[in-house]
Amino acid sequence: MAGISLGTAACSSSEQTQATELSASESVASFADASIKEAAAQYKYLMSRLPQDRLPKTYHAERDELETSGSEWWTSGFYPGTLLYLYEETGDQALYDEAIRVLGLLEKEQHNTSTHDLGFMMYDSFGNVHRIKPSPAYKQVLLNSAKSLATRFNPKVGAIRSWDSAPEDFIVIIDNMMNLDLLFWATKETGDSTYYDIAVTHANTTMQHHFRPDNSSYHVINYNPATGEVQEKKTAQGAADESAWARGQAWGLYGFVDAYRETKDENYLQQAQRIADFTLHHPNLPQDKVPYWDFNAPGIPDALRDASAAAITASALLELNLYVGETKKKEYLQAAESILRSLSSETYMAAPGTNGGFILKHGVGHKPAGTEVDVPLTYADYYYVEALKRYKALAEKEQA
Ligand code: GLY
Repeated sequence: MAGISLGTAACSSSEQTQATELSASESVASFADASIKEAAAQYKYLMSRLPQDRLPKTYHAERDELETSGSEWWTSGFYPGTLLYLYEETGDQALYDEAIRVLGLLEKEQHNTSTHDLGFMMYDSFGNVHRIKPSPAYKQVLLNSAKSLATRFNPKVGAIRSWDSAPEDFIVIIDNMMNLDLLFWATKETGDSTYYDIAVTHANTTMQHHFRPDNSSYHVINYNPATGEVQEKKTAQGAADESAWARGQAWGLYGFVDAYRETKDENYLQQAQRIADFTLHHPNLPQDKVPYWDFNAPGIPDALRDASAAAITASALLELNLYVGETKKKEYLQAAESILRSLSSETYMAAPGTNGGFILKHGVGHKPAGTEVDVPLTYADYYYVEALKRYKALAEKEQA
């Protein structure tokens, strides 16, 4: 497979430099193929270890224990979503059949109004299967999920409530940007603009209050639910209230790229670029571009890395590059390629038959709580496979 041309503006007079760039990107494309094959084999191993009524969450190597969850946990959509991506890339029916089996466990969450995570849970699972093999039944599950999510919107605040807490608090986390795609989809399917309006209002409120002057974002904003005023700006999963939690930056980037795709509002594109530029030019971003779990983590350079933040960032950049001019396009593509090279190396990608069947090692879930620290994570795998798939699609388009 041919690689993606990174542009020749900087080397138009040098055929040799151009050839080097192309051959470098060619090798990324071919290891994307190899990584997808390995990932599919790993997920068949994970599948073989999974209890029938549970979903994978993480793996504890020291006791060879797969940690699982029920369908209500926020990560429940990633396992079937990853299986579906891998099925699309390999054509392996066993992966598809396993995804369909698991969707049966997940289906009841369409009526869950106690979480904002329905985008992650339902759009990454049912959304993908409906994209691949559309059916009225999947569509209904997705529409019910969008309705459930919309119940959490407060027009006074202009946002969807993330976590249920004390009635005088209204907590919105940056992660919530990731749930808007389900709402955009619902308006496209039904013609009912309510969902679109909620998504846009949420994105605008987030843009107004979540970001600092340096374009990093707070993890948590606590609004007054009666007046919409900001009561607190803080963290839950980051190192400190004023720090830049790495996955939060990645969720924001990905979410604003989504919002731009669906609205074509230039403000969202600019916000996405500001986040990308904060991340890629941060002095604490390591050379392999896999960030520390927090850009301000104590102990840098010995702090833990978060492969999930890297995977989400790579996938987002592989879409963002489509919307920007040549110079930025080249920068974002190169950064995404660097991340994919790093994640596909033995430092981060598990050897076949290890890691409990998860694809990537070294994710950080919730460091301050001491949970899921330096472990595999379903969402690291999902966005890594998505990024590989996006990379291959770009390379194929370039070739056509
Ligand atoms: N949405 C939770 C997380 O990113 O850990």
